[in-house]
Amino acid sequence: STLSVADNSLDAATKPKSTLRSARWLNQEGNKAMSALYMDRYLNFGLTREELMSNKPIIGIANSGSDLAPCNRYHLELAKRVREGIRSAGAIAIEFPTHPIQESSRRPTATLDRNLSYLTLVEMLYAYPFDGVVLMTGCDKTTPACLMAAATMNIPAIVLNVGPMLNGYMGKNLIGSGTILWKARELHAAGEIDDEALVEMVTRGTPSAGHCNTMGTASTMNALAEALGMALPGSATIPAPYRERQQVAYKTGTQIVEMVYADRKPSDIMTREAFENAIVVNTAIGGSTNAPIHLNAVAKHMGVPLTNDDWDKIGYEHPLLLNVQPAGDFLCEEYYRAGGLPAVVAELLEAKALPHPDALTVSGHSLAHHARAEGMSWDRRVILPYGKPMKQNAGFLHMKGNLFASAIMKTSVISPAFQAEFLSNPDDPNAFECKAVVFDGPEDYNARIEDPATGVDSRTILVMRGAGPLGYPGAAEVVNMHAPGRLLKQGVQALPCIGDGRQSGTSGSPSILNASPEAAAGGNLAVLRDGDVLRVDLNKRIVNILVSDEELKKRWEELEKSGGFIVPESQTPWQEIFRRETGQLSEGMVIESAVKYQRIAQK
Ligand code: FES
Ligand code: MG
Repeated sequence: STLSVADNSLDAATKPKSTLRSARWLNQEGNKAMSALYMDRYLNFGLTREELMSNKPIIGIANSGSDLAPCNRYHLELAKRVREGIRSAGAIAIEFPTHPIQESSRRPTATLDRNLSYLTLVEMLYAYPFDGVVLMTGCDKTTPACLMAAATMNIPAIVLNVGPMLNGYMGKNLIGSGTILWKARELHAAGEIDDEALVEMVTRGTPSAGHCNTMGTASTMNALAEALGMALPGSATIPAPYRERQQVAYKTGTQIVEMVYADRKPSDIMTREAFENAIVVNTAIGGSTNAPIHLNAVAKHMGVPLTNDDWDKIGYEHPLLLNVQPAGDFLCEEYYRAGGLPAVVAELLEAKALPHPDALTVSGHSLAHHARAEGMSWDRRVILPYGKPMKQNAGFLHMKGNLFASAIMKTSVISPAFQAEFLSNPDDPNAFECKAVVFDGPEDYNARIEDPATGVDSRTILVMRGAGPLGYPGAAEVVNMHAPGRLLKQGVQALPCIGDGRQSGTSGSPSILNASPEAAAGGNLAVLRDGDVLRVDLNKRIVNILVSDEELKKRWEELEKSGGFIVPESQTPWQEIFRRETGQLSEGMVIESAVKYQRIAQK
């Protein structure tokens, strides 16, 4: 029948004269019956035929907020201002939910849902009559999921962050969301605070609507979305409850309509140059170790080559400029008041450290244009000058060796205490050797860390395996492990950690993480044993097990004979599909069969 909804063929005869994508649904020249069918259900909430047939652009509002996703829940309010912006610019808004991803409560781990949210958003954007989309982001994985979908789809798209929470306090002390959890866990393990105080302390980090107020993965990914050019300059850091957040929601609505008329698409913005800018910005802000995973994934879907080597080569030698937790002292409220990301970019520009000042943003102007308009920060406690930074050489190291092919180390959080204990050999100041104590997943760590039989001492390297994309599944944020309480009491603050899982962006641990291939994918982590010595050389970017190749081979034969590296069974259909389709962390942990679908709106 002519009214089959499956009929979305667009042969030359039915192709509308209009250039708007939505007209293929709603204003078909040769098939008015189909147009009527597509249109009538959008009439039933009050839109009119005149609006739908007048070639006004249709703008999606992809809303990631809900009761289930509290970090992004304020988007339910912001969407109203976005809608007003879209309407005032002469377009029609259609709001819809994205698959929710709540970092702090999704079990077993929220990264499992990044690819699911990506998949469903691609389907929605492809299958419905959208000319452009506002991507409402915030909590950690919501931002990369949206950017990945925008890359695959390639219709005009603009990011609107929900914004960070206000400052949390306990007495006069700033309490940073996420970061306080790691601190409180240590105090609790050392017996300094009880259960009640632990809960009280952690929940003080949640004082208002918004996402984590630290430079965790949420603040990082939204800063990088802005650095890539995909959000209005200055928009990423505005705290959720500030009036400017509502105002930028409105401007985001008007901007997406202009983008549709200008046909300014993700492929015009998310170029190789834009990713290089984002890598440098990530160093300057002390961004999360989740950033390489997510940006490599976005680049893959955009068809832009980007590897962990790029993160080291382009990012390592820049300084840390931002004094925000976990690498510094303050929180995002001061960061915003100090000028936000444009002030950081202005600092990089002044030092000629931004690789591509002319890279395009959603506004139609360059990143540099907006940073110049904003100017340098007035608050040098929070955004430091490039020449007098928090820390030199503060980017990620890309580590390799016989334990794994690729892992990331965040150097901006290396503490003076860690430096003194592990990096103070005068003959070899950038290397250390440690005996490994190996844990099989976070449950094993939690069960055994306080057991003296593990032999953990002040010179141990803690190893976490079975926590990668296939092992966990989804790759758990568990590599940042604290020392046992008895060592914490002696003042041992940080032991080196290494693992095939991830680390929370709010953690200040100098871990070596995202190790690929993971133990469950045949990495040598699977045959590492307690007492093996690991050599870590930061200059040479090498992590080696000081065990002979013959011994490793023998261990692999034994492991295979005993049935191979054990991972827990999948508990849901998606976990099984995820494990079947998904690659390693170093490659962005994308659904590999999805990568070939690029710029599909144009096809
Ligand atoms: Fe959602 Fe940190 S838990 S942003
Ligand atoms: Mg996290």
